Amino acid sequence: MRDDDTTSNVSRNRPFQDVLNVNLERRGLLKGGLALAATSLFAPSAMASAMEYQLRDKYGKYGKSGRGLMNFTPVAIADGTGPVPAISPEYDYDIILPWGDPIEPSAPAFNWPPSAEDQARQLGIGHDGMWFFPILHRGSHRFGWDEDRENNPWRGRALAFGQGNDHGVLCLNHEFGGNDHVLGKPAPESLEDVRVSQHAHGVSVVEIKKSRRDGRWKPVESELARRIHVNTPMDVSGPAAGHPLLQTPNGNVVLGTVNNCANGYTPWGTYVTCEENFHGYFGSTDAAWSASESQARYGFSQSGFGYGWHLYDKRFDLGDADYRNEENRFGWVVEIDPFDPTQTPVKRTALGRFKHEGATVHVDDQGRVVVYSGDDERFEYIYKFVSADSWRAMRARGESPLDHGTLYVARFNDDGTGTWLELSMNVPALAARFSDMGELLVNTRIAADIVGATPMDRPEWITVGADDQVYCALTNNSRRTVADAANPLAPNADGHIIRWSETHGFGGQYFAWNIFLIAEDTHGADDEDTFSDPDGLWADPDGRLFIQTDGGQKKDLNNQMLVADIMTGELRRLFTGVTDCEITGITVTPDRRTMFINVQHPGDGDPSATNFPVPNGVPDGVTIPRDATVVITRKDGGVIGS
Ligand code: FEO
Ligand code: CA
Ligand code: CA
Ligand code: CA
Repeated sequence: MRDDDTTSNVSRNRPFQDVLNVNLERRGLLKGGLALAATSLFAPSAMASAMEYQLRDKYGKYGKSGRGLMNFTPVAIADGTGPVPAISPEYDYDIILPWGDPIEPSAPAFNWPPSAEDQARQLGIGHDGMWFFPILHRGSHRFGWDEDRENNPWRGRALAFGQGNDHGVLCLNHEFGGNDHVLGKPAPESLEDVRVSQHAHGVSVVEIKKSRRDGRWKPVESELARRIHVNTPMDVSGPAAGHPLLQTPNGNVVLGTVNNCANGYTPWGTYVTCEENFHGYFGSTDAAWSASESQARYGFSQSGFGYGWHLYDKRFDLGDADYRNEENRFGWVVEIDPFDPTQTPVKRTALGRFKHEGATVHVDDQGRVVVYSGDDERFEYIYKFVSADSWRAMRARGESPLDHGTLYVARFNDDGTGTWLELSMNVPALAARFSDMGELLVNTRIAADIVGATPMDRPEWITVGADDQVYCALTNNSRRTVADAANPLAPNADGHIIRWSETHGFGGQYFAWNIFLIAEDTHGADDEDTFSDPDGLWADPDGRLFIQTDGGQKKDLNNQMLVADIMTGELRRLFTGVTDCEITGITVTPDRRTMFINVQHPGDGDPSATNFPVPNGVPDGVTIPRDATVVITRKDGGVIGS
């Protein structure tokens, strides 16, 4: 997402007297320090030594620091600028699935600007989070995902099958596309224009296959292919389903998903897509409109982000009495079955309503699903949902593990400990404020304010590392004036990555946190591995952390993807994008020999900045740049990141 200027949290949860004067002191200590040095500074000493022991134990098999996890030549700063991508010389890349390519049978080829009808059958724009679901048993009752064997690339289990590495279903989010880029004009002039924009958002489900002839990945015509967009019918489940706050006076059905940012996937083989800056698509044609407390807490405004949908589609007009509450239907996590094109996507309200960056699903030692989500806005929070029972038991009973459970929000204490604070009607202060769980969930941010969550520097992606620590990118916060231990820079221009260990199990309520890195202090403009604004994160099972950036980089660098060794803190630049793009979205085949990432909003849509993905040279000022997926392989066929 290009920088959203919203700041909605005025609760200022943290009383000033609680804030230790940690800023200058800790910055000094962190400068040039390794990640592990930071660990021992921030965690209580007993906890720190226990964690270091655990890390040594886990990594004993890899040897010491400099353990050779990354054996590739980094992209040099000088090569990482301009209109064309660059990759490490030991790697190759290919480009697939550009915005506007047809995905449904007989859909037309890219034609700019598209018609609304065509765009609904072509790939959307704003490529963001995605996941690759390998196809293992084509033709079986539910081909593609063997639930019992947990074919989950996370622990490399699929390696045992030796299948699914050249064929699968890719679910791909389409976060946003500016009107100039999509429509060729700054504002819509008709409902047809609005529909084009709406159909460019959402999710694409595409079957892709590696060609035996030339080794290149290509989409194949498939009965699984579908577009899900802003006008696709949706189901709603969980505690807020059917709540009066989700009903409109005119009784219209629930439609659509929007600003689909990061993602997750479940052990039962479904995709989850996350609605981030949903507020920006609403506006009001009534000059007398003013935001309610609930609307203000989510940043709704008279003109939104300037999409202008509300001018022609009353559903997005906050002042239209027929569509009162329509905005409450957005801000959720939506579950999609990649292997059932007839499935109606489901909004899972138990996971809360906020600007969900992603929804990272991890299974705890009791078989429960634990879902981590950042709320990406300045001074917003980090959330965790824990299912009520093991996912297998729940599914055997016909329940969704994403419908029943407990939602928590994080409080980071200055001493390196942390608490997951429950958000439910069991909490007296919440029972006093809300009449039921549905109302609480629609107002998740207000509930989190009340229990005293810690305002963070824009929580983006979350991933669980090979060390069982949970990593979260805090991309930046230009408006922070008072530092705290977990957000130690004020202002925080370039962001940091925080991580924590769940000290009472992944489903538990206590954690111990530390700061993995601070971009400005340890990877500043004078360092070869300089980067700013971490956003996309993915940890592999060998101890690597892939870091993708979204923001102004130093030295005129394009946005980039780096690989970090989570033990040593070493960083190498694997890939750089093009002028004015963002690098986001990451998934792999089960053998991790193919990685897919995205180049989002190349040139911010300006053909004089770049023509990515064609013609791969000097921009011609005419050929519209198109968001696309990048396929990364190692020339020697090795694991990506090695
Ligand atoms: Fe959609 Fe926070 O990036
Ligand atoms: Ca984005
Ligand atoms: Ca992002
Ligand atoms: Ca971002």
